[in-house]
Amino acid sequence: MNTKIDLSVNIAGIKMQNPVMPASGTFGYGEEYSKLLDISKLGAVVTKTTTREPREGNPQPRLLEVPGGLINSIGLANPGIEEVITKKLPFLGGFGVPVIVSIGGETMKDYQYLTERLSEVEEIVGLEINISCPNVEKGGMAFGQDPEVAGRLIGKIREVSRLPLIVKLTPNVTDIAVIAQAAVEAGADAVSLINTLKAKAKIRSRLHKGKWIIGGLSGPCIKPIALEKISEIKEAGVKIPLVGMGGIMTVEDALEFFEAGVQAVAIGTATFRNPRTMEEVIEGLEKYLKAQKLFSITELQEKSKRR
Ligand SMILES: Cc1cc2nc3c(=O)[nH]c(=O)nc-3n(C[C@H](O)[C@H](O)[C@H](O)COP(=O)(O)O)c2cc1C
Repeated sequence: MNTKIDLSVNIAGIKMQNPVMPASGTFGYGEEYSKLLDISKLGAVVTKTTTREPREGNPQPRLLEVPGGLINSIGLANPGIEEVITKKLPFLGGFGVPVIVSIGGETMKDYQYLTERLSEVEEIVGLEINISCPNVEKGGMAFGQDPEVAGRLIGKIREVSRLPLIVKLTPNVTDIAVIAQAAVEAGADAVSLINTLKAKAKIRSRLHKGKWIIGGLSGPCIKPIALEKISEIKEAGVKIPLVGMGGIMTVEDALEFFEAGVQAVAIGTATFRNPRTMEEVIEGLEKYLKAQKLFSITELQEKSKRR
């Protein structure tokens, strides 16, 4: 008998055919990846963090491979909200999967503006709020590093939109659970974690030899940290859905995140090595559930809860 396995999940009201999506900033707006994988098979798409005005980003070098990972200092290069709405979203909306737009800003007003503007756009089903951006009104400290500021920001965004809000947490804090709780109290519908870890390395290869790169560390070397941060949030009793990410390369990695208690996963750095990683993880989840005689991903998640 060929029983259909149900991989669908509902994250904060966003219905996804499976729990796998790209991590913001590693998938652009889908144009390049559309030639390398079947976007219509994904659970959702998440855009590059988009700002009010276009941003060129940081000068080169912006990427360095390090043992077990990657350091990036892209600097939120993006074409700005108006071009994203007129040129990028109509394309991304054509795959029949939910489109989540990641937003970032330098002031609370920027976030409010972006939220209001995007709430008018038909293709969008949810927003991911990147709170790792520096808050210029607070001397450049990231919005997500202070629970009071993070809570106030999410509250202001909540005031102007009914769209589901997924708050993307930075791991560069002493206590991530306190930030998650502040986001929940201010009206977040889900949290996603982890963003990259602040890191620095010296470049030894011929191009840019001797220069330092300071940026965000991602990839398999951060997976144990991501799993620990997820546990901290679960232990603090945060009840809203979690989207887990950080170093997922294979279905086994994704299963560890589900065991840790997330409802969905995002995949970033792995796609640079193998653009089909997301599709392979989706296929792998289906195979795993079949082998375990489970019929749905929610059954697997219920099983993890009981552990
Ligand atoms: C090149 C690159 C660009 C990124 N840009 C963003 C971004 O614009 N917004 C954001 O929230 N996270 C950004 N991230 C972080 C990822 O979304 C993700 O949180 C992190 O890389 C951990 O997942 P991974 O190990 O699967 O890549 C970026 C990561 C990389 C590697």
